[in-house]
Amino acid sequence: MKTLIKNGNIVYFDKIERADLLIDGEVISAIGQNIKETADEIIDATDKCVFAGFVDMHVHLREPGFESKETIETGARAAVRGGFTAVACMPNTNPVLDNKFVLRYVQDKAKEAGLAKVYPICSITKGENGELLSDMLSLYRSGAVAFSDDGKPVRTSQMMRLALEYSKAYDLPVLCHCEDMDLTNGGCVNEGYNATVYGLKGINRASEEVAVAREIIIAANLGAKVHICHVSTAGSVEIIRAAKKLGVKVTAETCPHYISLTDDCVAGFNTMAKVNPPLREAKDVEAVRAALADGTIDCLATDHAPHAHWDKECQFDTAAFGISGLETAFAVNYTYLVKTGVLNLPKLSALMTKNPCSVLKLPGKGIAVGEKADLTVVDLNKAWTVNPSKFASKGKNTPFAGKELFGAVEMTFVDGDKKYARDGE
Ligand code: DOR
Repeated sequence: MKTLIKNGNIVYFDKIERADLLIDGEVISAIGQNIKETADEIIDATDKCVFAGFVDMHVHLREPGFESKETIETGARAAVRGGFTAVACMPNTNPVLDNKFVLRYVQDKAKEAGLAKVYPICSITKGENGELLSDMLSLYRSGAVAFSDDGKPVRTSQMMRLALEYSKAYDLPVLCHCEDMDLTNGGCVNEGYNATVYGLKGINRASEEVAVAREIIIAANLGAKVHICHVSTAGSVEIIRAAKKLGVKVTAETCPHYISLTDDCVAGFNTMAKVNPPLREAKDVEAVRAALADGTIDCLATDHAPHAHWDKECQFDTAAFGISGLETAFAVNYTYLVKTGVLNLPKLSALMTKNPCSVLKLPGKGIAVGEKADLTVVDLNKAWTVNPSKFASKGKNTPFAGKELFGAVEMTFVDGDKKYARDGE
């Protein structure tokens, strides 16, 4: 099967060029002006952008165990609808992704779905309970791409030190959910004005920042690499920036909701805006945006956390934490980072594809002849209103419902196969 994408703006990681692009089977076989080859399908991409398929290094696909929230199939469908050609899924499933049987199950389900590529992340500790290390090396050799106890922090510093010793010895990516649970102390929103007004228990920024500092200090002492998940505060940004200046091998990600929303969204006890770490304040949003621009934060991930409606349609303090993010991520990032002049398109592409691939050591050389045709075609001029009932994800939980965003994903190709095409909504 040959597909010719005509006259698109090809967004590389460092430049944009108008060209035709030919897909032959699974790979990009030609890029150039006026390609004349005959093809099975010709796509007119005039005024559209062609990106290397987005790679989300942090999603929750919920299977096995929480299929009422999401399955690997629905999550992978949401991924391609959002322009993601690959996702890395977190291990807070039931049973926890801490052994080869669950790992194999996730791999098989992903293959069966045949949509986005799914890279499993296994837990750092067995059962994510912080007590015994998982068999990290053997899980890595069986296909786990990284290790994380995301959803729950690794409680003791000694356990994190052990994990980072292994990670250093075998170059295993470790992704840290940074939260000091003693400081969180049952909180459910950012500690500040809105927590006070609504009478909700606050989570101080220190809960995140103490843990960010701990992971960085342990990694620095060992000379190990460490990756910080979902950065939400100005203080975390300062700590990471200082560590990078000192030569610590730290990388970090943030999410669309931390560059676009503040805790004002919890007004009226809106549980859709309940997420962990919590939405912060304008000064944090500004700091996180600046950190993306200056390279302090390396990656944009979604932390896609789908929930069933009954997990959110309840009292605020008992509602589940999390935002279903795959299907709004690109548009939120484009609207709040590129249209506002914080980033240009090639930089956004690097943050959503090249850099996560580099942290997870995934193939991801971008758009080039001979590379796999993992591609996303986007109409940047299209404005659309978020309607969660249209989501492919089972998780309709989004604080962006009703918001107008720019940039619609038109098509997503995985290994040369068209896995998604927008049907006009
Ligand atoms: O809001 C969140 N939801 N943060 C996490 O760290 C975990 C996630 C989930 O699994 O629902």
